Amino acid sequence: MSDALSRRDFLKVGAVAGAGLASGGAPLEAAPLAPVDRVLADTMMGVPFAPTRTPRIAIVGTGLRGRSVLHELLGVVNVQITALCDTVPEKVAMAREQVRKAGHTYEVATYSGSERAFEQLVSRDDIDLVYTATPWEFHVPVCLAAMRAGKHAATEVPAAYTMEELWTLVDTSEATRRHCIMLENCNYGYNELLVLNMVRAGMFGDLKHGGAAYNHDLRSILFENRDEGLWRRCHHTQRNGNLYTTHGLGPVAFYMDINRGDRFDYVVSMSTPEMGLTKWRKDFPDRERPKDREHYVTGDLNISLIRTASGRTIRLEHDVSSPRPYSRINAIQGSKGIFEDYPPRIYLDGMTPSHQWTQIDRFKAEHEHQLWRTLGGQARSGGHGGMDFVMAWRLVQCMREGLPPDMDVYDAAAWCAPGPLSEASVRAGSAPQPFPDFTRGRWTQGKRSL
Ligand SMILES: NC(=O)c1ccc[n+]([C@@H]2O[C@H](COP(=O)([O-])OP(=O)(O)OC[C@H]3O[C@@H](n4cnc5c(N)ncnc54)[C@H](O)[C@@H]3O)[C@@H](O)[C@H]2O)c1
Repeated sequence: MSDALSRRDFLKVGAVAGAGLASGGAPLEAAPLAPVDRVLADTMMGVPFAPTRTPRIAIVGTGLRGRSVLHELLGVVNVQITALCDTVPEKVAMAREQVRKAGHTYEVATYSGSERAFEQLVSRDDIDLVYTATPWEFHVPVCLAAMRAGKHAATEVPAAYTMEELWTLVDTSEATRRHCIMLENCNYGYNELLVLNMVRAGMFGDLKHGGAAYNHDLRSILFENRDEGLWRRCHHTQRNGNLYTTHGLGPVAFYMDINRGDRFDYVVSMSTPEMGLTKWRKDFPDRERPKDREHYVTGDLNISLIRTASGRTIRLEHDVSSPRPYSRINAIQGSKGIFEDYPPRIYLDGMTPSHQWTQIDRFKAEHEHQLWRTLGGQARSGGHGGMDFVMAWRLVQCMREGLPPDMDVYDAAAWCAPGPLSEASVRAGSAPQPFPDFTRGRWTQGKRSL
């Protein structure tokens, strides 16, 4: 075995710690993907949900994120939470208690104790959509199981992190006629939807460049002996590239109408050396659970450049290992001006003072998104500044009113693909990596209902 802790060992440590079990528990390991024929079934682009008066939702993975999204869903009227699943029984119990405290008296089915318990959950006949907030390696198995059992699937980000898995999600969504939605909450952020409206109103002119990132100092979280610290650091021992592409890229993809008129064409990528996690481990040694056998390979800052079919460019960054303030960059530039976030600032040719940034407040009255106009009061008390509630509310609205989801499986695949493609580019000395066309030629068609 290499001196790097093997993935299997690492996950085993995480599972045992998470379950509070004595050592010797079964290794937590994602099952191999069942092969799916590369069917050329009809597209899932623009396919509406069957209208559902009270959408019935099940949650797999009731850790920090699963319970946070559960909280948002419980704030939306006309939703029923029918089933909950987590490998750790205590976490399911906490989630069930949340449902009870929200005033619901209906029975919630619970599944626990095994990393395959979700297979029993998906076979129930009282579920319309299964949402998973498990560690990354379980997103695909849960989504596939849900779709194959006739349920729509929704997943936390990233939906998948290999090209093969991304294609499997696309193929399965098409073959089963069930949606596979990656719930990218940042697309529902206040500034993101404000800027989307301004883009659509032509305020920035013809778009040419975007900026996107997940730059978030996670060093302390990555080394915790609970929650994400049990599984997320493992990826830093295996992969060198952009591990978390979608929070920044999803909104820029909306601005640029990716898969609705343009598409990602190719990406080049490079990584800085790794320093941050090694230094943190040295500065804060963990005597209870030493992590000395781990060898971190993810460069602290990964920078990728994506070119779209129409020739636009996007700078995409990932840095979770450095001391630095939070930023998703969230920038868009066109022939008439530019917006950049963190902090939000704008420049519009002839409309704002020359050669300097201006605050965006004066544009809010006219361009605030309808979702925020309607929901802002209730949303702002929720997670991530309110975007999580807006996302949950909108998902339920699409299901209730029989609309297509705002994000389909092709969006999930396109926004996640820079993960494995950046790894391939870094490995190949930053050589360009082409994006496959997950839409099978339909990227010039269609409009989003959002
Ligand atoms: N969109 C966002 O803003 C956001 C924020 C945080 C986390 N996330 C994503 O949410 C997911 C979960 O992150 P988290 O912070 O909640 O981590 P977490 O470790 O707190 O929760 C994961 C949960 O999944 C459970 N689990 C593991 N394997 C399972 C299996 N096979 N079946 C059922 N349950 C299983 C764990 O016991 C744990 O309770 C990740 O994909 C992460 O990237 C998204």
